[in-house]
Amino acid sequence: SLDGYPHYMLKEIHEQPDSIRNAMRGRLDDQNATAIFGGLNLTPQQLRSVDRIILTGCGTSWHSALVGEYLIEEFARIPVEVEYASELRYRNPPIEPGTLVFGITQSGETADTLAALVETKRKGHRTLAINNVVGSSIAQAADGGVYLHAGPEIGVASTKAYTSQCCTLAMLALYFGRLRHMSYEAGQEFITALRRLPAAVEQSLTCESRVREVAEKYQSATTFLYMGRQYNFPTALEGALKLKEISYIHAEGYPAAEMKHGPIALVDEHTPSVFIVPRGTTYEKVIANMEEVKARSGPVIAVTCHADPAIDNLADDVIRVPETPEFLQPIVSVIPLQLLAYNVALLRGCDVDKPRNLAKSVTVE
Ligand code: M6R
Repeated sequence: SLDGYPHYMLKEIHEQPDSIRNAMRGRLDDQNATAIFGGLNLTPQQLRSVDRIILTGCGTSWHSALVGEYLIEEFARIPVEVEYASELRYRNPPIEPGTLVFGITQSGETADTLAALVETKRKGHRTLAINNVVGSSIAQAADGGVYLHAGPEIGVASTKAYTSQCCTLAMLALYFGRLRHMSYEAGQEFITALRRLPAAVEQSLTCESRVREVAEKYQSATTFLYMGRQYNFPTALEGALKLKEISYIHAEGYPAAEMKHGPIALVDEHTPSVFIVPRGTTYEKVIANMEEVKARSGPVIAVTCHADPAIDNLADDVIRVPETPEFLQPIVSVIPLQLLAYNVALLRGCDVDKPRNLAKSVTVE
């Protein structure tokens, strides 16, 4: 039921502190400073011998795979490749014996993701599902997996499944990291950061009235650009996808530094650029990109953490989110982008939960 919310999408956005809690429930092992997964169906030897990981999925699930790539490479030091399931199924890439393939999917019914897993499994590779719907086709086809426990996601635009996928991939990074070289202390710190996450997401949701003002201001734009770097490059892609699928506004997500290789040509006074710019390795560089947009009269919307005059003076609109360690920031920073898409779609009179031309699960090729 809608529990008093006007749309499932808004309800599901607000459920995220809880859905993230549920993704972590019973999976954090303080004593060993690691994560626990009951359903991987792999022996410790098999798990330790994993020397390459492929993450595959479609749409928003593919975006969470991109976040997973950063997480697993940083904390587990295992090389990761992210593949569109629709490409992987026909591409026939060389896959080495120590490779583990994860299919990431909310519904567990996406035809391309299912086919990619069936094809890699047929070739003898180990396949796991990161999936929300219990007993789905993909859960059954994989050798094992992890359930998201996010509860039913009804809105066509994926919101809570995405943040739970990112959270689950973070726990997998911890798990594989601790099987290898990650220290006990680093594992403990990682767990502490995860435990603080639901409260940070809760706090991020308080940006809603600010986001509504931004939505009102830019509701008539015909193109939006979304830019972020590193862990928040996928956030930019996800923000753009949310906006285009429910408001039908053309939106593009880019790694911020790619701007000058093409998309900056789109910038004019009618084209808002949303920058995801929490503090971190590339903070100053993203601010420099904001300056470049400003210099071309482009409206700048900044999603950032603490007050910083460098950003406050540059941006036309600032949306603040709480600060977390860099590797969890995408989970917190995507919240205002979900809310922005929702509010713009609402103002434009779009059917938020059932956007045109889209189905909740894409069971055909
Ligand atoms: O159920 P899945 O996660 O496999 O679905 C994949 C995509 O179809 C899905 O994420 C789609 O992109 C959403 N509508 C995005 O909001």
